[in-house]
Amino acid sequence: MKSAGAGGVVMKVLNFGSLNLDYVYSVDHMVMPGETLCSSGMNVFCGGKGLNQSIALAKAGVDVYHAGMIGEEGGILLEACREGGVNADFIRTIPEKSGHTIIQVDKNGQNCILLYGGANRSITKEFVDEVLGNFEKGDILLLQNEVNMLDYIIDKAYEQGMMIILNPSPYDSALDVCDFGKISMFLLNEIEGGQVTGEKETDKILEKLKEFYPEAKVVLTLGGDGSVYQYKDEQYRQGIYKVKAVDTTAAGDTFTGYFISSVIDGLPVPEGLSLAAKASAIAVSREGATASIPLKEEVLKAEL
Ligand code: RIB
Repeated sequence: MKSAGAGGVVMKVLNFGSLNLDYVYSVDHMVMPGETLCSSGMNVFCGGKGLNQSIALAKAGVDVYHAGMIGEEGGILLEACREGGVNADFIRTIPEKSGHTIIQVDKNGQNCILLYGGANRSITKEFVDEVLGNFEKGDILLLQNEVNMLDYIIDKAYEQGMMIILNPSPYDSALDVCDFGKISMFLLNEIEGGQVTGEKETDKILEKLKEFYPEAKVVLTLGGDGSVYQYKDEQYRQGIYKVKAVDTTAAGDTFTGYFISSVIDGLPVPEGLSLAAKASAIAVSREGATASIPLKEEVLKAEL
């Protein structure tokens, strides 16, 4: 599968990322240290930052390959991929537990996530080499930080001339050994931006990102304050579309997938930001991770 990118250039899109079973509990408030709290509801959803972003890309109309690992009980994750229109040829089933999370969603739709990496952390150099062998110069690689071997994947893909897009989430020390100079585009939230740059204020985060990685495009999401795109001296801002928050899980992943789709389709940046903001607002208004991600048709029709 190839996507015709801006100017009709044909490239493949690979997302090397996590697939998680999300155990989601509805709670009045987030459980406190030492507290036992009854939840008022429980659901199992398909998620993982990787899978969510692949499904968002596919629902936005992009042909995407997902690479990753699941355990034997993770068949539902494979099905979600296939049903969502994602190519699952590079997903391996191994004798490990699938990645999973325990997610609390409170009465305001805010969440709190405890992650167990499981099979997502079993990526080997051999597997990376095998997968990347199917891609070439000019193809796009999307990464998050929920699989192991990220530094190796980045180095190999860069060597091959792939365009690397990184969502450094969740931010932890595994990212310290990655060569961010090889990244073409960062999509990150303000907390992650602060962790990458050591700054707290939006403008300073943006300045530092430009100073550290002058060739990279940056999309910084600012929660209720929307998002900012920056590339060299160019900057665009986008507000949020307000909806009643039901569950914020995967809102950022939906934004990421939709914004990348707009880049592939060659949309002007302000249109891409607006499309991504709309898609993510719809995701916030629904329960679950992959289940909450809208189809492009719905996003285009939505009156927000
Ligand atoms: O970004 C949301 C995702 O983060 C959830 O689906 C969960 O699996 C965690 O990885």
